[in-house]
Amino acid sequence: MENGSRRLDMTKEPVKLPEKLAATQAGVVGLGLMGTSIVTCLLAAGHKVTGLDKNPSRRRGLRRRVGKFLREMRREGLLARDPRSVVRNLRSSGDYADLRDCGIVIECVREDLKLKRQVLRKIEEAVPSETLIGSNTSALPISQLQRGAEHPERILGIHWGEPAHVLRFMEVICGRQTSLERAEHVVELARRWNKEPTLVRRDVRGFITNRLMYAMMREAFHLVEAGYATPADVDRSVRNDLGYWITFAGPFRYMDLTGIPAYAAVMRDLLPDLDCGKNVPALMRRVVRAGAKGVSNCKGFYPYTAGQARLWQRLFLKFSYEIRKLALKYPEDVGDRPVKRKNPTARAG
Ligand SMILES: NC(=O)c1ccc[n+]([C@@H]2O[C@H](COP(=O)([O-])OP(=O)(O)OC[C@H]3O[C@@H](n4cnc5c(N)ncnc54)[C@H](O)[C@@H]3O)[C@@H](O)[C@H]2O)c1
Repeated sequence: MENGSRRLDMTKEPVKLPEKLAATQAGVVGLGLMGTSIVTCLLAAGHKVTGLDKNPSRRRGLRRRVGKFLREMRREGLLARDPRSVVRNLRSSGDYADLRDCGIVIECVREDLKLKRQVLRKIEEAVPSETLIGSNTSALPISQLQRGAEHPERILGIHWGEPAHVLRFMEVICGRQTSLERAEHVVELARRWNKEPTLVRRDVRGFITNRLMYAMMREAFHLVEAGYATPADVDRSVRNDLGYWITFAGPFRYMDLTGIPAYAAVMRDLLPDLDCGKNVPALMRRVVRAGAKGVSNCKGFYPYTAGQARLWQRLFLKFSYEIRKLALKYPEDVGDRPVKRKNPTARAG
């Protein structure tokens, strides 16, 4: 079954989500940074959730971490129910057999092909053959994760953004052997999780946003390493240019809004000049060798005191909720609607 040769009929009605799947029990394997926010999102959407981690301390702290996120969602108006009753739908376990009743399981362990394959095999052994299995890999090709699977047609990429209980982002990715119908079910399910999902119809390493983001990061390193600008200069420019329009438009709509031919002219001269390096940039290697992890250990491209690191993290979360509200006022079809009032955004909220 090759999805590469198949195309979706964009004119057809959206697929109907099987009711059984809409109300299914969900499993999350790997309760680290992302697994915790994914568990929160699934609970808030009404699923019963089993969270599984091999590390007992991750399991012990889960209810407290998720409870905090749910209270935060409630404060921000994203959760109508009492967080205490929602968190009662959460179970944690270290035993894969406890996933047996799940209709969907999301793998969220470290980004390591061998480990992810092992974990997917363990999930397959525990669940019925129709259970959907999603991997929250950032960039591994889904077809490689499907290799050796018993039922590869139900394995697909479900790429979340962090924090998963706040962001509207989700990419649903078909591997070579994924059933397109099942991927469409996940897209429908994701809408119930309050996401605005994208279906990636053919397997490609890095999917959409990571391919674009890493192309940008490579160029950012090039500009710094070649002495054109400091990291702070690069950050300032990107925030005030791309950062200003990208939540509203995306690259193709932005070109429509600002005049297409100019981009063709710039591409002709600029593309040959951009960095096409294939290796991890030297500056990145040096920073990693020096033990820098970022705000989590107060060592990064910028220096942090412990208080500053905490403040950056808190402000980033606050900003995530605020930008979410702003983006919801300007949905992707906002300009396609008939405009009767003077202020088109007044209808869009
Ligand atoms: N951090 C992000 O912003 C982000 C964004 C998108 C996607 N992702 C992807 O999500 C995945 C997880 O990332 P993270 O940042 O949450 O990692 P993390 O290191 O914080 O958490 C991984 C968890 O998996 C557990 N684990 C490891 N092996 C296991 C096993 N065999 N069985 C059960 N549990 C096991 C670990 O104990 C740990 O709690 C990665 O593939 C990553 O690329 C991360």
